[in-house]
Amino acid sequence: MKYLLGIDLGTSGLKTIIMDEMGRVVASSLIEYSLAQPESGWAEQNPEDWWQAALKSIRQVLEKCGIAANDIKGIGLSGQMHGLVLLDKQKKVLRPAIIWCDQRTAKEVEELTQLIGREKVITITGNPVVAGFTAAKLQWVKNNEPQIYNEIHQVLLPKDYLRNCLTNNFATEVSDASGTGWLDVRKRQWSAELLEILKLPLEWLPQVYESHEVSGYLTEEAAILTGLIAGTPIVGGAGDQAAGAIGNGIVASGVASVTIGTSGVVFASTNAVKIDPLGRVHTFCHAIPNTWHTMGVTQAAGLSLRWYRDQLGEDVRALAEQTGRDVYELMFEMLKDVPIGSDRLIYLPYLMGERTPHLDSSARGVFFGLALRHGKPEMLRAIVEGVSFSLRECLEILQDLGIDCSELRASGGGAKSMYWRHMLADCFGMSINTVGVEEGPAYGAAILAGVGTGVFTSVPAAVEQIVKTKEKIIPNIANKLSYDKYFQLYKKLYPDLRESFQTLAEL
Ligand code: XUL
Repeated sequence: MKYLLGIDLGTSGLKTIIMDEMGRVVASSLIEYSLAQPESGWAEQNPEDWWQAALKSIRQVLEKCGIAANDIKGIGLSGQMHGLVLLDKQKKVLRPAIIWCDQRTAKEVEELTQLIGREKVITITGNPVVAGFTAAKLQWVKNNEPQIYNEIHQVLLPKDYLRNCLTNNFATEVSDASGTGWLDVRKRQWSAELLEILKLPLEWLPQVYESHEVSGYLTEEAAILTGLIAGTPIVGGAGDQAAGAIGNGIVASGVASVTIGTSGVVFASTNAVKIDPLGRVHTFCHAIPNTWHTMGVTQAAGLSLRWYRDQLGEDVRALAEQTGRDVYELMFEMLKDVPIGSDRLIYLPYLMGERTPHLDSSARGVFFGLALRHGKPEMLRAIVEGVSFSLRECLEILQDLGIDCSELRASGGGAKSMYWRHMLADCFGMSINTVGVEEGPAYGAAILAGVGTGVFTSVPAAVEQIVKTKEKIIPNIANKLSYDKYFQLYKKLYPDLRESFQTLAEL
């Protein structure tokens, strides 16, 4: 039997899985690490923590399943997108990585948009300049930490930093590179025109591969540290959204996914570059040659629930500890008696600014309609509804662009809740399917490794063979009509508050 190893470098932890050639997951391991917020709206992590987590989790999966390391035919990498990792000439990390949800770059977004021109940047990269994308972060370092900027030798995305540690190769792949703001999405290569305008040396950027292509081989040193065999091929892999989509079988038009992780994403695959001229959703290369994807992103989806758990959920955390039950499961039980609309309480999930549809790093979270009679259950339900409304906005934009989203598949930590899956079906007025495997991006990365090493013939063929629909939830139309009323008001709140968010940011 041949085996494949998939790694997903997430925001809260790093997951490694081993999958056999039939698509069965034989072992999985998750190692958590922390996120630093040195200032409000900032988010940083230490690349060394990712590397140590990778070493530990690879060793753990090997131990758990007991298979021989030389039966692992390939490795695929996936990870949080848009982060900025800077290395000097000696390959030393120059500063903590500034990660995807960091919102410090409002000034740099203006500056880069002026410099390049909004229309040009959308035409070339498929997207406007976005606060969380890598380009704005590098510009921030240039403006604020010139001594570090002058030391830069290489610029890497988070999972590509791991690749560098594993193979010594300086490489990336099309899907993650799309989220930097420097890639020509049609040519699937760095844009010479943009690099020239930005005076960004091409040598600073890694070589771009297609996602299934072999990008390097495990070094002797990494083999000793991981317990794997030197020379094991490592394919390009994909950004977490594209890799997760592959694991979910989103490989052709017509099927879209709704993923609730730390962020929330509605994702559809397209056979041509499909750009939103208003820049409300992202257009990136998909992890399959000659395909692209369009996606809407809610910055704080699962993150909103985690905020509740950490800031307001002391009681439910204590109960989880006493009973040994999952804290999120207990949280969902708390809100089941609260009616649709959370007793007239609406939550805007803008804890870390917002991308789709507002692209506003100054937006902030809101409870609208808070009354004396409201308690934690109403607040919690309002959070889950607010995130669902935000995802509905993402879906509606994709549909307005003429993208076929006839089938919707739910995935990610949030979608593990049956309760939330029903809410999504009712709120969208559409059936929600789920597939049999819940391993997310790491599973998609392992599939890509299988394609690159000849275990599978292509991504669509692998998906056809191993990704199967497990469940279908039909919407309740009476509930849909109730959600509609609150959704209309939800959509009105951001435009009403936009100026006040700006004022607040400037106080
Ligand atoms: C996608 C995005 C998130 C992060 C973290 O654009 O920002 O999916 O990759 O999961």
